[in-house]
Amino acid sequence: MRVLVLHAHPVAESYNGALHRLVVERLKAKGHEVDDCDLYAEGFSPVLTREERIDYHEIGPNLEPVAGYVERLQKADALVMCYPVWNFGYPAMLKGFFDRVFLPGVSFKMVDGKVRPCLHNIRKVAVVTSYGGTWLRATFVGNPPRKAVMRVLRVIVKPGAPFSYLAHYDMNRSTPATREAFMKKVAAAMDVF
Ligand SMILES: Cc1cc2nc3c(=O)[nH]c(=O)nc-3n(C[C@H](O)[C@H](O)[C@H](O)COP(=O)(O)O)c2cc1C
Repeated sequence: MRVLVLHAHPVAESYNGALHRLVVERLKAKGHEVDDCDLYAEGFSPVLTREERIDYHEIGPNLEPVAGYVERLQKADALVMCYPVWNFGYPAMLKGFFDRVFLPGVSFKMVDGKVRPCLHNIRKVAVVTSYGGTWLRATFVGNPPRKAVMRVLRVIVKPGAPFSYLAHYDMNRSTPATREAFMKKVAAAMDVF
């Protein structure tokens, strides 16, 4: 499969940086064609500009500022995202990718004022993430980052596409053993992706 890997972390030496390298390495080892999109390294701008907002619904002009990213998204068969949870959401880099690239004509169409998701080239999704807080704390507030993937993204891609959400919770109290165990879990998931 052609897999678009979306990574958002400013520090390559971070745990998420290591997870990102692991994901790319294991997918490639299994013969996938990997498009490794490291948003910080590529200098992606997450800011939706005034012109982009004005042209948002004009299919054609709306794609121009991010045409390269749209092409990469549309060429992909699968999506793997690797990022830390920040403020119970995506890092701004990744949120900005959704704002600027998941456009009308790309991820959805408007039909009689209703959103019709259409990113049906994406047939499989995996998320690799980490939280500073515990699973209990995330669950207590409704786990918004998990819902953004399992409920929001899920209805945008091909109906019935398999999703996996792999999270290391409680990073604030993590140990080499917990981090290593999660790396193994991620490696195993990528081996059968
Ligand atoms: C700006 C920022 C916001 C954060 N917000 C949350 C949060 O809302 N919930 C949470 O559980 N952890 C939060 N964290 C903790 C990160 O999830 C944690 O630092 C990260 O998973 C550790 O991975 P890293 O070492 O690769 O950065 C936040 C961290 C930062 C830097």
